[in-house]
Amino acid sequence: MAFAKAESGSEGSISPDLHPRFTRCVRDARVKMQDEAIARKRFGFTRRRMLAALVAGGAGALLDAFWFEPGHLTVTRKEMRTRQLPPGLDGLRIGVLSDFHFRPGDDDELVAKAVAQVRREKLDLIALTGDYTSGNLRVVPPLLALLEKMSAAHGVFAVLGNHDGWRGQPEVIRRLFEKAGFSFLINQNSQLSVRGEKLAIAGTDFVWKGRPDPERTLRGISKTTPVVALVHEPDYFDAMTARRDIQLQLSGHTHGGQCRVPLIEYAPRTVSYGRIYNYGHYARGDSNLFVTRGVGTVGVRVRFACPPELAILTLRTGA
Ligand SMILES: [Fe+2]
Repeated sequence: MAFAKAESGSEGSISPDLHPRFTRCVRDARVKMQDEAIARKRFGFTRRRMLAALVAGGAGALLDAFWFEPGHLTVTRKEMRTRQLPPGLDGLRIGVLSDFHFRPGDDDELVAKAVAQVRREKLDLIALTGDYTSGNLRVVPPLLALLEKMSAAHGVFAVLGNHDGWRGQPEVIRRLFEKAGFSFLINQNSQLSVRGEKLAIAGTDFVWKGRPDPERTLRGISKTTPVVALVHEPDYFDAMTARRDIQLQLSGHTHGGQCRVPLIEYAPRTVSYGRIYNYGHYARGDSNLFVTRGVGTVGVRVRFACPPELAILTLRTGA
């Protein structure tokens, strides 16, 4: 069958003598061109360009997640308000570092950056909330060689994380931390006199398969003394606040999910004892909880929309 050439009619018309399949093809191509013209006019891109942008965006996100973000330290500054804080303690600044999961060779620069920032801040207290290791205790001495360069006016306090505690040698870790000049709390508290006011720093044992004991941890602290509690796993906040108001609990463990969906703040990956409180500030009555994203990574060295964090919290008097 011969195709008849359209001899007359306007440029946009199709001769009825043409083969129907050819006619359909020409019409579809014209509709596609018109759609793309509309898309270009309305949105400034075509489907092909959109696909190219998505591929480039995906490659950029992967590059960020695996190469850039795990080593990019951020500093978060927040005020924590509590009624039970004497005016003398208003303005007290606490630095929080957690979850190093230290890998010598890979993480030295990141930890050194955190230490340098802490030194510049001239903090009142420093809290280290566990998971210094991913199980291998041999990384503790090289990590402490970096951390011991930092100090705070009223001390550096540390607790165990589950990865540290699962090796069953808490006293070995305690000795190493104490040798570095840090206080190591396992179901214990330390009562300080800061600017003439009482302040208790309390630290529990790790929670996940550990032996946390809130009664022992808070023993001897008067009801009127404000408490800063260090507890590796954040969901233990509920157990701690069942005993008394905890003016500020500091926790890590979740890594903020390590990879989050930007804008909606959703973390697909959760972990035992970190499912209720994943990241950030939570308040209940006169109790506050701050969960940090931590410094290191566990498993694959990847972070996305969830960079390493040094948190600097300022205590404030008031509701
Ligand atoms: Fe942990």
